[in-house]
Amino acid sequence: MSGGTQWIVMGVLLMGLGVCGLENGLARTPPMGWLAWQRFRCNTDCVNDPHNCISELLFMQMADILVNQGYRDLGYDMISLDDCWLSRERDALGRLQPDPFRFPSGIAALSDYMHKRGLKFGIYEDYGNFTCAGYPGILGHLQTDADTFADWGVDYVKLDGCYSHPVDMDQGYPLFGFYLNQTLRPMVYSCSWPVYQTYSGMTPNYTSIINTCNLWRNFDDIQDSWESVQRIIDYYGDNQDDIVPNAGPGHWNDPDMLIIGNFGLSYEQSKSQMAMWAIFAAPLLMSVDLRTIRPEYKAILQNRAVIEVNQDPLGIQGKRIYKDKGIEIWARPITPVFQGHYSYGVAFLNRRTDGTPSEVSVTLREIGLSYHGGYAITDLFDSVHYGTVLPDKRFKVDVNPSGVVLVRCEVVKTTGFGGGRPQLIEPAPQSSIRPPFQNHLFNQFGQQRLF
Ligand code: GLA
Repeated sequence: MSGGTQWIVMGVLLMGLGVCGLENGLARTPPMGWLAWQRFRCNTDCVNDPHNCISELLFMQMADILVNQGYRDLGYDMISLDDCWLSRERDALGRLQPDPFRFPSGIAALSDYMHKRGLKFGIYEDYGNFTCAGYPGILGHLQTDADTFADWGVDYVKLDGCYSHPVDMDQGYPLFGFYLNQTLRPMVYSCSWPVYQTYSGMTPNYTSIINTCNLWRNFDDIQDSWESVQRIIDYYGDNQDDIVPNAGPGHWNDPDMLIIGNFGLSYEQSKSQMAMWAIFAAPLLMSVDLRTIRPEYKAILQNRAVIEVNQDPLGIQGKRIYKDKGIEIWARPITPVFQGHYSYGVAFLNRRTDGTPSEVSVTLREIGLSYHGGYAITDLFDSVHYGTVLPDKRFKVDVNPSGVVLVRCEVVKTTGFGGGRPQLIEPAPQSSIRPPFQNHLFNQFGQQRLF
């Protein structure tokens, strides 16, 4: 049986079994790694800026740091090229080739460098005539380029969508996915298909997208600012009913790169991005200069407990369950599950700018956590243990301006009660949450309360 036939037969079998989503066996938890774009962009000036230009050296240096500084062992196990690695011309046989000055060893050698260090290697291309920065795209060369990627030992393909018509993407992205599968080399497939369609006024066909791609971009490119991070958070909250159900093992919404450690986010805002990306079950693709990152930002990226929420094996994306006066509460069902009750990652996010922490107080039941045995609650950034909290007991956190408190609420195993299927919590109607401090405008220090 040819590779292609095998692929089709497998697809039919999986459809028969009622399996939804791309089942290439990859990305069972959100991909983690390092991507060049947000920090290094299209800097091709290796003459004047050899240290920061897009060249094989940059990727090799980042790979060494992933390995030597503990990132790989925490799960950040992939290094990926983004735009501007290509030569302007294909070779005599019509194959893609890297810029010879900046990638003198060739892409196969770079990929090999990653593999020797226990890392995966990612590449960037574009479904259109050109990449967004104007380098050759794959249109007209789909099979050749899929084969070339396989020959080079590529493990992850980010396929952008500039210079193509969004209507054509409904055929084009699956067709390139077909050619990738036909190579029989496992390659994670990252698509930009829905974002281009949404921006052109189309409604993306998510059924097709989740059956084709391991991850996909839904929204704008991230920029180096808190404003940009907040816009993404809002998009995910405002559109959660449409996009959250599409996430699961093997197929993820991609809110774009982590910008932690760059220029635009404060320490608090960096924790907020990390926490929210954990709630989103988002790919954790760092785009930062790992050679110069300050230790406190590195510690955020390396926070094992937060990574564990992000990588939870259930793969259920979290939702915004409360939003009022600049305070948001987000919750994500995670393991362990006991007698039909999920544990949860819960993020209390403070979008306010008045310069003092906001006290947020809720009962767990108000935010949908109702297991009678209660939840063992741990703060994931400050290592505070709150002990077991019963559903009707009031639970209070202080959240810094533009900061977050992220807690893990682990269902406490008790005996003697019946089970049932896990019930997902749904966004609570505003009226069912008692706003913290509804009745008291000022606290004991004379500070104004929020609610
Ligand atoms: C698009 C993508 C970005 C990046 C650039 C490169 O804008 O969304 O993530 O890959 O192209 O040009």
